Amino acid sequence: MEPFITACNVFYQYESPSGPVSALKGIDLSIYSGEHVAIIGPNGSGKSTLLKLFNALLEPTGGEVRVGGRDTSDPQNTWEIRQECGMVFQNPDNQIVATTVEEDVAFGLENLSFPAPEIKKRVNEVLQAMDLDHWAHHAPHLLSGGQKQRVAIAGVIAMRPRCLLLDEATSLLDRRGKAEVIDTALKLNRLDNITLVNVTHFLEEAALADRVIVLYNGEIAIDAPAQQVLSRGTWLKERGLDLPPAASLANRLREGGIPLSFPIITMEQLVDSICSWKQMA
Ligand SMILES: Nc1ncnc2c1ncn2[C@@H]1O[C@H](COP(=O)(O)OP(=O)(O)O)[C@@H](O)[C@H]1O
Ligand SMILES: [Mg+2]
Repeated sequence: MEPFITACNVFYQYESPSGPVSALKGIDLSIYSGEHVAIIGPNGSGKSTLLKLFNALLEPTGGEVRVGGRDTSDPQNTWEIRQECGMVFQNPDNQIVATTVEEDVAFGLENLSFPAPEIKKRVNEVLQAMDLDHWAHHAPHLLSGGQKQRVAIAGVIAMRPRCLLLDEATSLLDRRGKAEVIDTALKLNRLDNITLVNVTHFLEEAALADRVIVLYNGEIAIDAPAQQVLSRGTWLKERGLDLPPAASLANRLREGGIPLSFPIITMEQLVDSICSWKQMA
């Protein structure tokens, strides 16, 4: 199978008043259709830069990024790539552009000059599918943070993309908002086969992915199944990435010789795993 996104020896350099900043240094990766990949890494490691390369918001300064086989550096591909790969950012309030939820969801399609009846049809479909239809005529700024992010996701989904890119989209939300957004993204990935790339600094979220890519200092430090990444607690902690408490306790118990199951992210999983180990012992 052809990968959906490929990065081949990718470099990205920002020009700043104090000189050039190398944000990405030789990135090689492939992301396949329908995959759920999490990208983690300390602040400044290059996560947002990498994500922006995936929907042609930035063009690599070295190497090549392809999305659906199309070179992102070719301006003729920009609109198709943006439609295929939609992005949701951190701050819900910066993403609201219209006075009603319905108009907000329609915004991307309007930008792509879709005919009005098609826009109406798609917006209604998406609002229904995402259980947002009762908010259609509400002002988006009255919604909770989680609901606002779901409206932003709906705006992306209305374009019928193949891929959803989340850049710390849950980081400003409360617990409930986080769960709401992640549940929505997971459903789109599992039920509609939408490729999901989630940049997050919550390892609880990263643990839900098929694969976790750890960026460090503009390079890929690890690209492995989630469970393998989570078992490297000390390595992650040394780089400012804290495991969830249950995962960290589980690793210590494993080091002490207790063969606990994978994955353990929540306290509930930890307790379950210890109980079943005790029954076996
Ligand atoms: N617009 C910019 N101008 C100059 N440097 C930037 C700009 N945006 C990001 N950087 C630098 O590029 C590096 C990677 O940034 P970024 O991709 O935002 O990392 P992350 O999302 O992991 O925090 C950092 O050193 C950051 O300071
Ligand atoms: Mg960032």
